[in-house]
Amino acid sequence: MSETVDLTTQLGKVLLPSPIIAASGTFGHGAEVAHLCDPTRLGAVTSKSQAPFLWAGNRAPRLIPVAAGMVNAVGLQGRGIEHWVERDLPDLKATGARVIASIWGFTVEDFAQAARLLVAVQDQLVGVEINLSCPNHGSGATVFSHDTALSAEVVQAVHATNLQAPLFAKLSAGVTDLPEVAGAVVDAGATGLTLINTFRSLVIDAETRRPALGAAGGGLSGPALKVIALRAVHDVAQAHPHIPIIGTGGVLTGLDAVEMLLAGASAVGVGTATFYEPRATHRITDELVDWCRTHGVGSVRDLIGRLKEPEK
Ligand SMILES: Cc1cc2nc3c(=O)[nH]c(=O)nc-3n(C[C@H](O)[C@H](O)[C@H](O)COP(=O)(O)O)c2cc1C
Repeated sequence: MSETVDLTTQLGKVLLPSPIIAASGTFGHGAEVAHLCDPTRLGAVTSKSQAPFLWAGNRAPRLIPVAAGMVNAVGLQGRGIEHWVERDLPDLKATGARVIASIWGFTVEDFAQAARLLVAVQDQLVGVEINLSCPNHGSGATVFSHDTALSAEVVQAVHATNLQAPLFAKLSAGVTDLPEVAGAVVDAGATGLTLINTFRSLVIDAETRRPALGAAGGGLSGPALKVIALRAVHDVAQAHPHIPIIGTGGVLTGLDAVEMLLAGASAVGVGTATFYEPRATHRITDELVDWCRTHGVGSVRDLIGRLKEPEK
């Protein structure tokens, strides 16, 4: 079988050569994983979320394997946007990667400041992801995306800066009405969405009677998350068919990627799979191509949102 499969996909005005994207925080800072996994074969690499300040993150242990996935409480450790712009971005760009920069903060102004610090390098970015949904940056800290108005306020503040890059709001599935949050952040200026972040979770060590991670709680990722992510993507795509979505959560195989596209995603984020296997994104891409070939699908765009109704 030698038919070519068109992998190109579009996120608003952003045209990507492949729908497979490295998810934030799971591809190192980029260049180190690039030694193992050529990022030019990916649609894009999303950077680890950075704040406009240095942040130490949570105490160890930060990562624990659980049934069907893992729970992490890295807590957004990072040296800050300025360091990332000076040191990490050039290394990542040198690999030929298309880069989505991810930002976070504790306040609306932190996000706006993070955005301002990216203005000088925005021509090197294909997009900026606004991480509104980290579940583990310290107990009691705000998960912005659990609050519709606050999420919209953050996106509006970022949109009001001179940053012209397409904005992708990263949301959590842990809300009552995800399509409402999705609509609000797009009305506030986001081009698209990344769905979903890790899901709030807790691992307990019964011997010590304490949380097993250094932080009280963590975020679940990996295979267990896939069905939750599929539902999130599906519900938002049904409510807002024109919003481009990077469907993320539990994608380990090409078939998982097919399902994410059918649910309504225009691109597919891969995170935990890279921890299991550094070249997972390449294998997933190859499997996606094979699936398309064996099913007579000439373009991945023909899969996007093509889930049928349940049989009557
Ligand atoms: C160790 C680790 C670190 C992460 N760091 C970030 C981060 O900095 N910013 C972010 O938006 N998401 C972060 N995520 C979430 C992933 O980008 C992704 O949304 C989530 O893990 C679900 O996808 P997966 O099941 O393929 O891993 C992190 C996930 C893991 C496992």
